Amino acid sequence: MSESQKTDEEVQRQRLPIGVFDSGVGGISVLRELTALMPNENYIFYGDSAHAPYGTKTLEEVRRLTFADAEYLVRLGVKALVVACNTATSAAVTLLRERYADMPVIGIEPALKPAVLSAGHARVLVLATPMTLREEKFCHLLCRFKEQAEILPLPCPGLVEFVEDGILCGPKLERFLTELFAEYREHPVDCAVLGCTHYPFVKPAIQKILGERVRIFDGGAGTARETKRRLRECGLLNPSLQKGEIRLYNSQGSGEMARLARTLLEAL
Ligand code: DGL
Repeated sequence: MSESQKTDEEVQRQRLPIGVFDSGVGGISVLRELTALMPNENYIFYGDSAHAPYGTKTLEEVRRLTFADAEYLVRLGVKALVVACNTATSAAVTLLRERYADMPVIGIEPALKPAVLSAGHARVLVLATPMTLREEKFCHLLCRFKEQAEILPLPCPGLVEFVEDGILCGPKLERFLTELFAEYREHPVDCAVLGCTHYPFVKPAIQKILGERVRIFDGGAGTARETKRRLRECGLLNPSLQKGEIRLYNSQGSGEMARLARTLLEAL
């Protein structure tokens, strides 16, 4: 291959979209951080709402679904994969990196580090799906920081469904959260980590129920920065100065979820 051919191919690859996926519309919270940081990149987002939630399924099921999501995007032609789902990352990111060894695969994990570092020896509540909190990846994270803070993992089955249904505020959600956080209203926490990409969409409701003084963290911005770093390292940043294109797909073919995803992306 001549040098100029190689360069053409490299430039073409740089212009390919970044593939971003989640079990549903939650990953849009990561996509919005990616587009804010790298507006000139092209993106394809795939939400698997037909099979959400993932966090209460078995490890085998989540691995199978995660591979199907990744394959869908790879077939469309992407230069990198962002696993915008804490649950899928816990279950399968290592295996995905083995299968797609020729492209960067970036995962997400609960933003425990900034929460722990922000407030001395704080009480830190970690909200996530049952699977994220059960898997080895989170156990390692917990071990790293457990001397520096009192870390309180709280599985939140049922919360993803509110976001998938487009319910981001209101009495039904607040009743659910009041019950979920009952213990922490009596014994308040200093920080809360949103360890599921759906939760940033209900952050105002979470803040209201936990109290205004609780600092809330999520991993979206960190994942976007890591994606940029990896793309730069691999020579894959898009040199275009124009605003990129964002395509949204969903496994629930009715168009309703793609519309919800667009609303969530544009609402902020
Ligand atoms: N957005 C996914 C996450 O970050 C939600 C998982 C689910 O579908 O239960 O964990």
